[in-house]
Amino acid sequence: MENASVLYEVRGVGKRYGGVVALDNVDFTLRAGEVVGLVGDNGAGKSTLVKVLSGAHEPDSGEIYLDGQRRVWKSPHDALEAGVETLYQDSGIAPDLTVAANVFLGREIVRKGFLGKLGFLDEKAMRRDAHAELERVGIAVPASDRPVARLSGGQRQAVAIGRAVAWANKVIILDEPTNHLGARQAGEVLEIIRHARTKGFGVIFISHTLPHVLEVTDRIVVLRLGRVVADAPSSSFTPDSLLKAITGLGQS
Ligand SMILES: Nc1ncnc2c1ncn2[C@@H]1O[C@H](COP(=O)(O)OP(=O)(O)OP(=O)(O)O)[C@@H](O)[C@H]1O
Ligand SMILES: [Mg+2]
Repeated sequence: MENASVLYEVRGVGKRYGGVVALDNVDFTLRAGEVVGLVGDNGAGKSTLVKVLSGAHEPDSGEIYLDGQRRVWKSPHDALEAGVETLYQDSGIAPDLTVAANVFLGREIVRKGFLGKLGFLDEKAMRRDAHAELERVGIAVPASDRPVARLSGGQRQAVAIGRAVAWANKVIILDEPTNHLGARQAGEVLEIIRHARTKGFGVIFISHTLPHVLEVTDRIVVLRLGRVVADAPSSSFTPDSLLKAITGLGQS
């Protein structure tokens, strides 16, 4: 690999939905300990790129590399196993399950013992660990035996973010994690992102709130109509130049 610090990378990725070209020859890199902002107007292709990176969509063309190794994700499970954790824009929180069950959704703790992996869930251990996990990443949620449906939108979002960060071991992808959050809660999410960076994770942060993006990221990648139109250190953008890159308006 040319650059040892590159953690996650796609090259020449293309993705169409019928006649719509959602991604056109996209290159994207993420280094360890780096927060990259992915921005662009509605429909620019951000969530589609997220789905390629998370294994939810197979790209029509292009290559994916994790730790310098070529990867082909057949499902989100493959990417998860390899250490790529994703909070989708339409987050997969199950409202009828408890906070604890949501944190462990898809990887429930099976009680050890002579029954071995016969497959019944250790609810007590899950509750205890769910809370510990959320606390560890700096998220305060009310009792983890509460159904998520009885939390506020912001608290629900916190559970989803906590889940992603708690399980991550290489890459964390957050698609609009501060949506629907109040100023204080959004600030907490930014704090969690900073914390994740210090632990050496690579973080991809997607948001339409440009001040947040400028504040928390090291580098910003701008997508427009499925193409990368800018990829530069965050410090090289002003709010105005970033907006122009996104819209393509007012550029000479
Ligand atoms: N499942 C789908 N079927 C058909 N077209 C799709 C599908 N998902 C996305 N698209 C189209 O692909 C393009 C990129 O969409 P995408 O969701 O990646 O944009 P986005 O940048 O995440 O936008 P937003 O900021 O609104 O979330 C859009 O033109 C969209 O209409
Ligand atoms: Mg989107």
